[in-house]
Amino acid sequence: LRDRQPIVAIDGPAGAGKSTVARQVAQRLNLLYLDSGAMYRAVTWLVLERGIDVQDEVAIAELVQDCEIRLEASGNDSAFAAYPSRIWLNGQEVTQAIRSTAVTAAVSAVSAQPTVREVLLRQQQQYGITGGVVMEGRDIGTQVFPQAELKVFLTASVGERARRRQRDLAAQEQPAVSLSDLEQAIDDRDRKDSSRRVSPLRQADDAIALNTDGLAIEDVVNKIVQLFESRVER
Ligand code: DC
Repeated sequence: LRDRQPIVAIDGPAGAGKSTVARQVAQRLNLLYLDSGAMYRAVTWLVLERGIDVQDEVAIAELVQDCEIRLEASGNDSAFAAYPSRIWLNGQEVTQAIRSTAVTAAVSAVSAQPTVREVLLRQQQQYGITGGVVMEGRDIGTQVFPQAELKVFLTASVGERARRRQRDLAAQEQPAVSLSDLEQAIDDRDRKDSSRRVSPLRQADDAIALNTDGLAIEDVVNKIVQLFESRVER
């Protein structure tokens, strides 16, 4: 017997389709959707905004300890349909700003820092106290919610992920980037996210792996909803 609503953890590398899939799964199961990556991006945005060196762990630790992050637990707002969720930092909305190429290039360095992870981990766990959430990220099944009722590890080939990222950038009216540059950036971020010392990207032992190459979003969503319904009691 549980004293909270169920938790679904969706992890995987950049561009595997986590955001779209996790958001739709949450809608179908009537759970709240939370994008943990947006929190790492928000801190990174502030680091850049303040002109702090992304390797300056002392300055960044200080910054993250007294910044206030507010994540809206859903992405249904039609005006922001291109973004997974809305997010505010120290009262300022940064929903769009955190998707810039500059933030994307710097976020691995910032999210590798132990203090940043400690602070954000605690905040993410707060969101799960009563359960009823689908949280998406890199370490949700391994660190944030090891007790999650359903853990999914989404993957896709680098080529497929680069094509998806290109479409996302266009949808968000961001400057166009070539496929080969995107592939390189994705490869680079995978390597950094998987090799960092603290909470590297890793499939939890009890996670279900799903490769999304060639699958329609709808198929992936249906598959996860079925897994939830067959394994999780409400
Ligand atoms: O999902 P995303 O691409 O928006 O995430 C941005 C970065 O944040 C990603 O490169 C790794 C980091 N991240 C993390 O370290 N842990 C998480 N739970 C989520 C994201």
